[in-house]
Amino acid sequence: MSAGAGNGAGVVIDLRSDTVTRPTEAMRAAMAAAPVGDDAYGDDPSVLALERRTAELLGKEDAVYVPTGTMSNQIALRAHTEPGDTVLIGPGAHVWFGEAGAPSPISGVVVRPLEGERGMFDADTLRDALHIDMGPVRARMQAPVRLVCAENTHNGAGGAVWPLDLQREMLAAARDAGLATHLDGARLWNATAATGIPEADFAEGFDTVNVCFSKALGAPLGSALAGPRDLIERARRFKQLYGGGFRQAGIVAAGALYALEHNRKRLTEDHARAKTLARGLAEIPGLEVDPGAVETNIVRFRTTTLTAPEFANRCRTGNGAGKVLLNAYSRSDLRVVPHLQTTEEDVECALEVFRCAASGSG
Ligand SMILES: Cc1ncc(COP(=O)(O)O)c(C=O)c1O
Repeated sequence: MSAGAGNGAGVVIDLRSDTVTRPTEAMRAAMAAAPVGDDAYGDDPSVLALERRTAELLGKEDAVYVPTGTMSNQIALRAHTEPGDTVLIGPGAHVWFGEAGAPSPISGVVVRPLEGERGMFDADTLRDALHIDMGPVRARMQAPVRLVCAENTHNGAGGAVWPLDLQREMLAAARDAGLATHLDGARLWNATAATGIPEADFAEGFDTVNVCFSKALGAPLGSALAGPRDLIERARRFKQLYGGGFRQAGIVAAGALYALEHNRKRLTEDHARAKTLARGLAEIPGLEVDPGAVETNIVRFRTTTLTAPEFANRCRTGNGAGKVLLNAYSRSDLRVVPHLQTTEEDVECALEVFRCAASGSG
């Protein structure tokens, strides 16, 4: 199966996620040549190099490399909170809705989603959510709010970028209330590629930041949690506790380091392909999409006649030109995500498959 590389009869174009990429030859060469040690002993040179570079890019003191974005987010939550604390999140936050409900079994916290648009919430919404001064006895009855989590770009909101000024206002409100802050920046690289604003500027003001190498950057696996040295040291303990000490991890860390140095700038190509997909989808009867809402690499769209699973199944069956894999999220919601291995020909071919699927011809 092709992940979208190349084209021709019967090709399978995989647009489910930017996590489906295969390491390129150059990335594989970097991985094959990687010096390794033992990550659990803290002496794998490739892991250490990746951690240093990530911390530097995010303007933080330290970073810890972990196998997945889920582990990175969840060790952050565990490091920031005590069981019984409240964690505030934005609408549709991956940290809660996309990670098997991990905050409750792992950290024992109460998760409270705030209202907002496109996965974001503003400073006033945050202030309103905090306990009003009700005196010490009634305050004791509440689960204290300890942590605020933001997500940038926002996966569920179609890769929306949290504008820096609004993010800063929200962070100032969190700081005034004495709250800790965590950024799920799984696709922060895309926010930077879309705006030209350095990752460190988006990361500034957050205590901890998760970034993923295994998504748009195209590394085979791995994420990192960055933040102040003492907090990252505490997070390292939870990484070990959850079974994340992954020994000769330098082999995959070298792939992540390669991705970091070579694949950030090219993300604008994915963004351009996402726009082309959105414009093409907007012209197909039976589908609805707002191309203006596409800021990065994720295109969310809706079916109006078929159900989303019916449409996705038809695309999977495909036509003479090819087959397309894509994710349905509800009765009418779907998404497509172009990535490192999605070519312009794949985009044209995918749009042809979508036209046939929507019209019932094949
Ligand atoms: C915004 C966001 N955060 C975290 C994750 C979790 O990453 P992983 O799949 O590596 O656990 C994802 C995965 O898609 C994500 O989209």
